Amino acid sequence: MGAGSVGGYVGGGLQAAGAEVHFVGRPRMLDAWRAHGLRLTDQDGRDERLPPVALHLSATVPAGIAPSLVLLAVKCGATREAAAALATALPAGTPVLSLQNGLGNAEAGRAVAPALRWLAGMVPYNIAELGPGHLHRGTGGKLAAQDDPALRAWLPVFDAARLPMRLYADLKPVQWGKLLLNLNNPVNALSGLPLRAELMQRGYRQVFAALQREALTALAAAGIEPAQVAAAAPRKLPTLLSLPDWLFRRVAARMLRIDPEARSSMADDLALGRTTEVDALCGEVVRLAQANGLAAPLNQRIQALVEAWPGQPAPLAAPELKSRLGLR
Ligand SMILES: NC(=O)c1ccc[n+]([C@@H]2O[C@H](COP(=O)([O-])OP(=O)(O)OC[C@H]3O[C@@H](n4cnc5c(N)ncnc54)[C@H](OP(=O)(O)O)[C@@H]3O)[C@@H](O)[C@H]2O)c1
Repeated sequence: MGAGSVGGYVGGGLQAAGAEVHFVGRPRMLDAWRAHGLRLTDQDGRDERLPPVALHLSATVPAGIAPSLVLLAVKCGATREAAAALATALPAGTPVLSLQNGLGNAEAGRAVAPALRWLAGMVPYNIAELGPGHLHRGTGGKLAAQDDPALRAWLPVFDAARLPMRLYADLKPVQWGKLLLNLNNPVNALSGLPLRAELMQRGYRQVFAALQREALTALAAAGIEPAQVAAAAPRKLPTLLSLPDWLFRRVAARMLRIDPEARSSMADDLALGRTTEVDALCGEVVRLAQANGLAAPLNQRIQALVEAWPGQPAPLAAPELKSRLGLR
């Protein structure tokens, strides 16, 4: 549900491994897949193709369908609308796994469609649309989801699809671990650069680190210990990011193992004039800080910069971004 980069890559991988998959999406994506099929590649040499004739594509949830698992892969702002559409079409108890960023999607879906079985998930890697129907995984990691019998039965299929998934009794620390990494999304989007090129500049990394420090302070106040999702422990990330370029390049070689063309999906959203997920990321930090008697002014300011973008669509050089945030 939400046949885009994540939905296409994960759904396509499962279909290539033998699962029957129905993709529900918008014409922009589905028309490209109808014309070109799906091509899935990754940084480890995967190159798999699903021809158009093999794909079940539709603009609405097919009537009478009773899937054993739904993957929800719309952007956070579209969760409620997608949940309402699922609720009208699917039998009660259908498991819906959110593969979205941020923390509140499964809860938001449950509020709209309480009869469905909402499960939180986390996608650690970057998936980019390199061409029509061509989806590319540009970084590494393992899918994560909250433990549930409905998912346990699927684990061998995810394994066969080269989409290994780990289940957790409590996914919140993993989601926060991922959110800490996603705090680079607004920085990347405002930089106008591919991820790797942006992370090679200390000025942008200092902004990313400052956003993380605010989030870590709020998490500590809330008694939440974020899980390690990247190569370094969450509490070490800001120090690592603040290193001079020459040292960062050596120490963070694994973090920089990103395809040169990979960009955050927030950068694509800004480029296409779409609503971004900045509120589900920086806004979540601000809300956590406030709920614990703190403030998170840098996250608040960068959210405002992203939201003001349609009025001023010019990439910000690192010194300019730092100055707009009041950082030295
Ligand atoms: N891409 C990544 O690298 C990545 C990695 C990890 C996590 N994530 C997270 O995964 C989620 C999906 O990201 P994405 O990059 O895959 O987004 P995406 O490429 O924009 O895909 C989402 C698709 O769902 C469509 N859609 C929206 N509402 C729908 C509805 N009611 N019914 C059917 N289709 C609908 C969207 O169409 P419109 O554009 O017309 O709305 C869009 O084509 C986000 O939360 C993102 O943060 C992304």
